[in-house]
Amino acid sequence: MRIKAKSSRPKLGLPMVVFSCLFFFIAGFFASAIFFQDAPTVKPRLRLLEVVNEEGHKSIPHGESGEDAIGSIPFQVLSWKPRALYFPNFATAEECQIIVKMAKASLKPSSLALRKGETIESTKGTRTSSGTFISASEDKTGTLGYIEEKIARATMIPRAHGEDMTMLQAFNILRYEVDQKYDSHYDAFNPSEYGPQSSQRIASFLLYLSNVEEGGETVFPLENGVSIGRGFSFKQCTGLKVKPRQGDGLLFYSLFPNGTIDLSSLHGSCPVTKGEKWVATKWIRDQREGEN
Ligand SMILES: *[C@@H]1O[C@H](CO)[C@@H](O)[C@H](O)[C@H]1NC(C)=O
Repeated sequence: MRIKAKSSRPKLGLPMVVFSCLFFFIAGFFASAIFFQDAPTVKPRLRLLEVVNEEGHKSIPHGESGEDAIGSIPFQVLSWKPRALYFPNFATAEECQIIVKMAKASLKPSSLALRKGETIESTKGTRTSSGTFISASEDKTGTLGYIEEKIARATMIPRAHGEDMTMLQAFNILRYEVDQKYDSHYDAFNPSEYGPQSSQRIASFLLYLSNVEEGGETVFPLENGVSIGRGFSFKQCTGLKVKPRQGDGLLFYSLFPNGTIDLSSLHGSCPVTKGEKWVATKWIRDQREGEN
């Protein structure tokens, strides 16, 4: 009897071990799926898949980090100096309205990074908009997450390079009312003016959230290498002008591929003369947040 009992144990034990391993594996798999799921990105991913093969292109086997879909994001080259791309209908009117509504709850006067010798008083009037920072993870509607994902796909620069004020990749959402503007400036920080930088802004993506009746254009006064001559004022609104149109995106690079600052990326926001301008800005850096 004893011998039988002993020998029968392994026979019962093995299926039990296999069963419990399987059980915990499956339970763990679903538990991790629940805990690590980035809820806001679920819907957007499905939406991205809707554009599969719309022109009859067939996708090919992709890498583990790749995608099934062949997407298309229409764009226009606005200029090579600076490198600027225009994305018509990057977001829908509905998405824009959701973002504006969220931003309205927390608007504050916009601030400015100061150069050596500058004070809040001496730079007063340079940037007169109101703004707020909202990260994709704070947006429970998933809209900012979807936009962020789309910007990453359009630029092939991972989402983690988006700029951050709080260790979350935040969008700066701005409102310009009549007479409000942002004098021409660079988004990149020249170390000789601002001191050593641990990371640098490579590019900026602007998403226009509203139409503007008059004024409020994004302006590149030095497009195509027009040099700063006598009489040039950082307050003037001449050069390549981009009229805001709700849902359209504008991407421009502040750095050359070799990492030096492209002086033609100087840009500003012309005063709004009629209506209201809403824009979401995403700054893209050369380092992932927290890695510098
Ligand atoms: C970097 O690239 C720009 C544009 O091609 C060029 O004008 C500049 O001289 C380069 N600078 C360096 C340090 O290589």
